[in-house]
Amino acid sequence: MKNLVFATGNSHKLQEVQGLFKEGFALSCLKDVNITEEIPETADNLVDNALQKAWYVYKKCGIPCFADDTGLEVEALNGAPGVYSARYAGEQKDSRLNMLLLLKNMTGKENRNARFRTIIAYIDENAQEHIFEGEIRGKIIENMAGENGFGYDPIFVPEGYDKTFAQLSSETKNKISHRARAMEKFLSYINSK
Ligand code: IMP
Repeated sequence: MKNLVFATGNSHKLQEVQGLFKEGFALSCLKDVNITEEIPETADNLVDNALQKAWYVYKKCGIPCFADDTGLEVEALNGAPGVYSARYAGEQKDSRLNMLLLLKNMTGKENRNARFRTIIAYIDENAQEHIFEGEIRGKIIENMAGENGFGYDPIFVPEGYDKTFAQLSSETKNKISHRARAMEKFLSYINSK
C-alpha cells in the first residue's frame, strides 16, 4: 500500500478523487492525519497556493502529500475570479453569492468563454515537488441551472455539452473535469514509479 494524504477538507473533492484511484493506494484526508486548522493559502497564483498547502501538510505529518488549487478564469473578466474563486464575493466563501456576483459582472458581456484550471502539487517521499495541470474550457450561462456538484457548477457549461456541470451526472463530470485531467496526469506519474 502507498500512503498518500490529499490536503483537502472538502468532502465533495475527496469523493470525486477517490473514484479515480486504482487499488494499492491508501488515501487519507486532512482529518485522518489530525489537521483540523485552516491551511494558509496566501499566494497570488494557483501553483504557489497548491505548493503552500502540500508543504504545510508534508511538514506536519511526513507522508507524501498532494494538494490542489482550482480557479475559474473568465475571459471577459481578464481571468477573474481565478485564484480568488472561493472568496470572490467575500470571506464567507458562499457559492451562491459568488455566482450572483459573477453573473452581475458578466451582464452585457458577449464573450462568455471561461475555463476551470486545476493545479496539483505533489511532494513525494524524497521531499521533491511535482506540478500537474488540468483544464476544461466552456461557457458561463446567464442563469443558474442544476443541483449537482458545487461551487460554480450551475453556471458553467463545458465545451461539447449543452448542460451545466450541475446538470451533468457526477460520473460525466469526473471524466472530463479540470480536476480529473490534472489527476490523470498525477496518477500516471505515480503509477509509473
Ligand atoms: P479549490 O482550490 O479547489 O478549493 O477551488 C476554489 C474555488 O473554485 C471553490 O471554492 C469553488 O468555488 C471553485 N471550484 C473549484 N472546483 C470547482 C468545480 O469543480 N466546480 C465548480 N466550482 C469549482
